Amino acid sequence: MAENGERASFSGKIGFVLATSASAVGLGNLWRFPYETSHYGGGIFVLIYVVLAFTFGISLILMETSFGRRTGKSCVAAFSGFAKKYRFIGYLAAIIPMLIVPYYCVIGGWVLKWFFESVTGNLGTLAEDGGGYWWDIVTGSTDSGFFGPSLWFLIFAALCIVCIIIGVDKGIEKLSKILMPLLLVMIVGIMVYELTLPGIADGISFYLNPNLDALGPDTFLGAVGQIFWSLSIAMGILITYGSYTKKDVDLTESAVMVGVIDTVVAVMAGMMIVPVAFMFGFGDSNGMGLMFEALPQVFMSMPAGNVVAPLFYLLVIFAALTSAVSLAETCASVFNDGTRLDRKRSSGVTAVLILVVGLFCALSFDNGPLSFSIPLDQGVGLLGVLDSVTNSIMMPIAAILTCLFVGYVVKTTYLEEEIELSGEFKFKPVFRVMVKYLAPVFLTMILVFGILDLVGVSLW
Ligand code: TRP
Repeated sequence: MAENGERASFSGKIGFVLATSASAVGLGNLWRFPYETSHYGGGIFVLIYVVLAFTFGISLILMETSFGRRTGKSCVAAFSGFAKKYRFIGYLAAIIPMLIVPYYCVIGGWVLKWFFESVTGNLGTLAEDGGGYWWDIVTGSTDSGFFGPSLWFLIFAALCIVCIIIGVDKGIEKLSKILMPLLLVMIVGIMVYELTLPGIADGISFYLNPNLDALGPDTFLGAVGQIFWSLSIAMGILITYGSYTKKDVDLTESAVMVGVIDTVVAVMAGMMIVPVAFMFGFGDSNGMGLMFEALPQVFMSMPAGNVVAPLFYLLVIFAALTSAVSLAETCASVFNDGTRLDRKRSSGVTAVLILVVGLFCALSFDNGPLSFSIPLDQGVGLLGVLDSVTNSIMMPIAAILTCLFVGYVVKTTYLEEEIELSGEFKFKPVFRVMVKYLAPVFLTMILVFGILDLVGVSLW
């Protein structure tokens, strides 16, 4: 980012696309997309995800970035600039990253642990019990008890906190421009190797062949939640990113590029994980562990697997860290804007939030000292509750309100003018229909279904 008058700005289209992709590509693509795909029946979920990401997802990226650039403000201020009564929409969106970042660091901790074990020659341990080791770890059943996962969470959280406090995020961003393509190359390499495994064909068919029997309203619920999570939509972050963008940057093209990059990485990560997981017989049980259970077994069977595995996990750590830092920065800037706290103190508050809530997540798995059971927790404690509440309730509400605000209060022309500053806006009619009608109606249906699903009422 270069200083440009009062507001820092990205150096141009490429700068914007790279920074946004670095923050969007993370555990959402590598960890969450594969297990959601497995859970929702494979190919049919992939199909629905891709179609929705390219239509609805990209429209929402465009809506948020153009809104941010037009107002020149970050999330809360962008809404309250019109009238104080709209400020709550900004706050609702801004709270979401605060609920995500603590558990994001817990998962980042698992990746660190997997890196550490594979680099110290313990790949075999990770592949133990046909991959059951992950569940033993999170439920404290191994020798290290709950101390193990908490320790790795604390290390990942500390890395993230140090980054926001000393502000090395620009350095990480630069590094991620080299490491992200490298990660892609590795994913492709691992994928190609997997194609040689006997018995993989059924897994590939599960991943690529849409099975209509698996289709239900919950497939859409899962796909929309995943789109929000992976593209970082409906949490105010893209409004802020838009405000850093120069007026001559083509927003439509940028939104399409970010959407395509993120989706391609997700689909490739899915291709690397879902077919082998299927082959090893993982259904949707312990869904969240898919990435940690299936891959070590692949690495074990691979020539030079003990070199490939640590390298792979290291690259995943970087992808996760760029996203975690960007999530934490979003939280810090909300504290900074919304209270009288200065930058340092806002970072401090963010750190406390991550540590306290994250530790609660790490300790509330089955049998954990803080474990509990309610329908919302998906069997994985506070981590599951936070994931469900943000994805199925808060993000749809934030997105519906933003669409209604843009469509009926400020009017879509307000954004269309902004988008047209840098060229013809070919999708204008589609964009208008999407923001004013399709997205709010569709999201309201998703929200109602999501709430019923969470409280355990099944319509299907
Ligand atoms: N999209 C990120 C990922 O796939 C996670 C994420 C959600 C995020 N919201 C964000 C990252 C806000 C940065 C800012 O891992």
